[in-house]
Formats: sequence, structure tokens, C-alpha cells
Amino acid sequence: MIHSMKDAPLKNKNIVIRLDLNVPVQDGKVTDTTRIDRVKPTIDTLRESGVAKITILSHFGRPKGEEKPEFSLGFLPPVLSRCWGVDVGFGPDTAEKITLLENLRFSPGEEENDPNFAKELAVHGDIYINDAFSVSHRAHASVEAITKFLPSYAGLNLHKEIDALEKALSTPKRPVAAIIGGAKVSSKLSLIKNLLPKMDMIVLGGGMANTFFLAEGHDVGKSLAEADMTAEAKSILTEAKAQNCEIILPMDGLMAKEFAKGADYRETSIDNIANDEMMLDIGTQSAEMIKEKLGAAKTVLWNGPMGAFEIPPFDHGTVAVARYVAARTKSGDVLSIGGGGDTVSALSHAGVSDDFSYISTAGGAFLEWLEGKTLPGIAALDR
Ligand code: 3PG
Repeated sequence: MIHSMKDAPLKNKNIVIRLDLNVPVQDGKVTDTTRIDRVKPTIDTLRESGVAKITILSHFGRPKGEEKPEFSLGFLPPVLSRCWGVDVGFGPDTAEKITLLENLRFSPGEEENDPNFAKELAVHGDIYINDAFSVSHRAHASVEAITKFLPSYAGLNLHKEIDALEKALSTPKRPVAAIIGGAKVSSKLSLIKNLLPKMDMIVLGGGMANTFFLAEGHDVGKSLAEADMTAEAKSILTEAKAQNCEIILPMDGLMAKEFAKGADYRETSIDNIANDEMMLDIGTQSAEMIKEKLGAAKTVLWNGPMGAFEIPPFDHGTVAVARYVAARTKSGDVLSIGGGGDTVSALSHAGVSDDFSYISTAGGAFLEWLEGKTLPGIAALDR
């Protein structure tokens, strides 16, 4: 059984808390503070409970065990202070009551789940809290090994994420649809395979769909696709039939010669892509067809955009489908869950962040949870 920090004896204790402050940054600025905002209630509750000190652990990017200045978390305390309305220091020796330690992944021990590194982290507290569902699929020292050295509890946000996902997935209202898009094709093929027995339909969009077009013998021009994955895609299409899971692929798209603002583009069917073109979004007919299919669903799970939504007009398909799912959620016809960094940005771009039943900030952890895998960070709290 996982113990909530609400049941922990917090007063006067030193708290070590794992957060996921791996936030999107552009030109030195945090472009989305969702991950920071979501844990504010946890920080508030700890402060109200009279804890002595809060030491925050997080990673940032993938520096692979080396101290690379561009991956330093030093820029973050002022942002945390602003978002949480409380002073946050940096490093173990500050006078502040709340302090953030340097990027955990500067030390190879973090990703190696090294017990000695976990012990070094545990020294900062009497109690450990994991409030980072989005890293709980990683058996890393600050997520897994540390629980062997301190009484360990689940943070408020981690609990909220699990409750929302369990509600949607343990006994979902059928039909259940998954929308899988985005660019990380190979990493998601196994996900799709594992989802086949659980889903009634799977909508494929984004770069993901192109590999399936290749598998079906279409020429995809310069589109993002993984030719070495076509056999896998083919076997998924065959397996889907056997499992009675409908795979829904776009039939048209927006094609352009370059992915750039103001680039010329044309809308055409997927069997008409020229050699020097790439598909950057699903087309109007596809968006309509997908909406019609999703009209039957009672539960919708979404990971990955339908196209390159960052540059209009290639956001069209993502926005159309997102608004449709949001409207059906608002009218009470569907339970909708979105997850993943790109998906959070895409749904916010479509203006529907508040209209989905739940949006998880987790990427990989969300996907592994969907597949029914045990997450090491959650299992570690359950002993
Ligand atoms: C994420 O952004 O999904 C988490 O912070 C995990 O990051 P990772 O994939 O580098 O482990």
C-alpha cells in the first residue's frame, strides 16, 4: 500500500522530495510552468505542516552523468520562488528553508540507481516524498534506491495522477480509443502493440502514421518515417485485426517542401505525396473522419499531436481533433485523458487544457502506465 504524505509525521522534519522540474526551456526562459504549478499544493501543504527544511531533488535533460553547465538547474530557483510565492535557495548549504539541489544526472550514480548515491541524497532528510509521477518509470537513485534509506511517501500530485489514470483505465467505459501521434515512432511501436488488446480503436497521426503508410506501400517522400520499422508496423496491422482493434490512419494531409513558417503547402491524399514533399499535418477529410470515429468512443486517451502543430497551418488537424474531444468531454459524453510533454503543449495551443477530464504532465511514465507496466518508483513506495 502506498502511503500518502498526508499521513506522514511532517512537523519539524527535514523533507527530501523528488520533483520533476525537467521543464521546457527556450532561450533561457521556462516556456511552460505546468510541472512547477502542479506541485505548488504539495509545497504549500509541507510548509503549513511545519516542516523544518525541504530539499528538492530533480533532473534536467540528459547530461549522462557529466557536469555540463548547459544542464545546470541554477536558473530555476527564481522561477520556483515566483511560481510558489516563497524563497527557494540553490544547493545544499543555503539558509533558505526550501532549497533545490543541482541536476541529479550530473552524477552517474543517479541513473545507475546506485545505493551509495541514494544514501548521499537521503542524508538531507528524515522523510522522503516522491511527487514526480513523470519520472516514476525510471529506476533511478532519487526515485527507487532512496526509498531503502528513508520512510517514503507519495506526494499529493503523484496520488492525483495515479487516481486519474486508474479511474480511466481500470474499468474504462467502452469503446475506448487511443490517439497516438508525435515524432518518436520507434519508441511508440511497442506501445501500440501492447495497447491492441486494451483498445477498441487506435487513431494514428503525426510522424507515427508515415511509417504505417510505408508499410502499406505508399511513397511518403521526405516525410518523417522509419523505414526499418515497416515490418513491425505491418505486424501491428495484422495483429490489430486479430484483436478486433480498429487502426485508423489519415487518408490525406498537408504536404510541404520544408518545415518553416510561411512555407508553401498543398492538401492532397496520402497516395499523392511528391518525392520532395513531407506530410506535416493530417488533412481536412482525415480530421472529419477521425472526429466521426471518435464520436462513438466513451473514453479517449491521447499521446502525441496529429501534425507539426508548432507552426500554423500545420496545427489544424491537432486543433480540430482536440477541440472535438474537449467538446464531447464538456458535454459529459466522454472521459478524456491526455499525457506527454508535446501533448500538454498541443492541447494548450488548442485552448482546451481545462476541458479534458485530466491532463498528465508525464510522457514516458504515462505511456508505460497505459501499457500496464509496473513503474519502479511506484512499486518502491508500495513496500
Ligand atoms: C519527462 O520529461 O518525461 C521526464 O522528466 C523524464 O525524463 P527522461 O525521459 O529524460 O527520463
